[in-house]
Amino acid sequence: MPSPPLFRRATVTRIIQETADTRTFVLAPHGGPLSYRAGQFCIFRVRVDGGRDLLRSYSMSSAPETDDELMTTVKRVPGGKVSNWLHDHVSEGDELELTEPRGQFCLRPAPTSAPLLGFCGGSGITPVLSLAKSTLAGTDRRVRLLCADRDRPSAIFYEGLAELAKRYPGRLTVVRHLDDERGLLDAADVKEFVGADMDADSYVCGPEPFMELVESALQGSGRVFSERFGGAQVPPPSPPRPSPARTPAPSPAQPPTPTQNAAEGTITILLGNKRVSVPRRPNETLLQSARRAGLAPPFSCEAGNCATCMAKLREGSATMRVNDALTEEEVAEGYVLTCQGVPDTPSVTVEYE
Ligand SMILES: Cc1cc2nc3c(=O)[nH]c(=O)nc-3n(C[C@H](O)[C@H](O)[C@H](O)COP(=O)(O)OP(=O)(O)OC[C@H]3O[C@@H](n4cnc5c(N)ncnc54)[C@H](O)[C@@H]3O)c2cc1C
Ligand code: FES
Repeated sequence: MPSPPLFRRATVTRIIQETADTRTFVLAPHGGPLSYRAGQFCIFRVRVDGGRDLLRSYSMSSAPETDDELMTTVKRVPGGKVSNWLHDHVSEGDELELTEPRGQFCLRPAPTSAPLLGFCGGSGITPVLSLAKSTLAGTDRRVRLLCADRDRPSAIFYEGLAELAKRYPGRLTVVRHLDDERGLLDAADVKEFVGADMDADSYVCGPEPFMELVESALQGSGRVFSERFGGAQVPPPSPPRPSPARTPAPSPAQPPTPTQNAAEGTITILLGNKRVSVPRRPNETLLQSARRAGLAPPFSCEAGNCATCMAKLREGSATMRVNDALTEEEVAEGYVLTCQGVPDTPSVTVEYE
């Protein structure tokens, strides 16, 4: 049986201007509502200025437990292709293309009665708002949010969160950290916010420096779940096992040397109507092999977060260094994040669908 198409269309029914550079797009998916969990995201496919299709991930700011409508909230990134295109070219009544929801930044059953702690920087509030609404509506847990923003006008959902706190008296607390009043958030602010809730689950989303600061300050407290939006230098992940050739993984731009070609086997990539094969190289990801083969496959974060680079294994197997985007079912079906997948078998064939 043919698998369902990866993308479906949705009509933009409303656009809400949240701040000067942030909009919420309310979507009515064609073919019926999307089934999703709070904290998940969809991959959007847009064609900017008649060029090639670009894929970007956007999290839901709505929650299935509290909102009848599907909403995603997008902040402009200076110089960014897709975020600015969505702001400048999409109007109510237009259609967008998006995948089924995915991602694992979702509510986990809590082992203790400690509150859920949310740490959000800028647009990182989007999935955390969804998680907060879901927790308040679906459980008895308390929710405490630490929201860091440049200043009051750039704080997304400022009033919305204040209203939500009134609706759940004693259960939702929102602490605002505005850089223009207090300087950048530091580890002491994070520890002060955590206070006695050392066994609480923390959900963290924001720009990379914010993530690093909060994650480091949370060491020694309860479980920490993070969602990375990308956009900063992500250090290359360490290889899953020692290189048999004992040489660093080659950059795709470097000319091959005999040692780099030591691994046996062939990597075959199917993309659009192209089918290309290259000799396998040790520790090279499938995405790197595809680029070496002269293809331009889709990718975004290159960190295992967004699923933009997913493809289906048609032959052989591969181990992902990081997988924070594909569901267990998708992995079982043979999907792989090509930016993270390193072949386990001499020959591997992958198809971008
Ligand atoms: C799982 C996931 C969920 C996401 N959810 C949301 C969401 O709900 N709302 C939202 O607004 N964004 C979200 N993002 C970020 C979004 O996917 C895009 O990366 C972002 O909109 C920038 O895309 P662009 O095409 O405008 O910029 P690009 O053209 O890709 O980038 C242009 C420049 O901006 C930098 N840049 C790219 N992304 C970022 C970023 N996020 N922050 C700062 N600089 C960046 C790049 O390094 C580059 O220099 C999410 C990302 C992931 C991986
Ligand atoms: S490019 Fe984001 S998971 Fe591979």
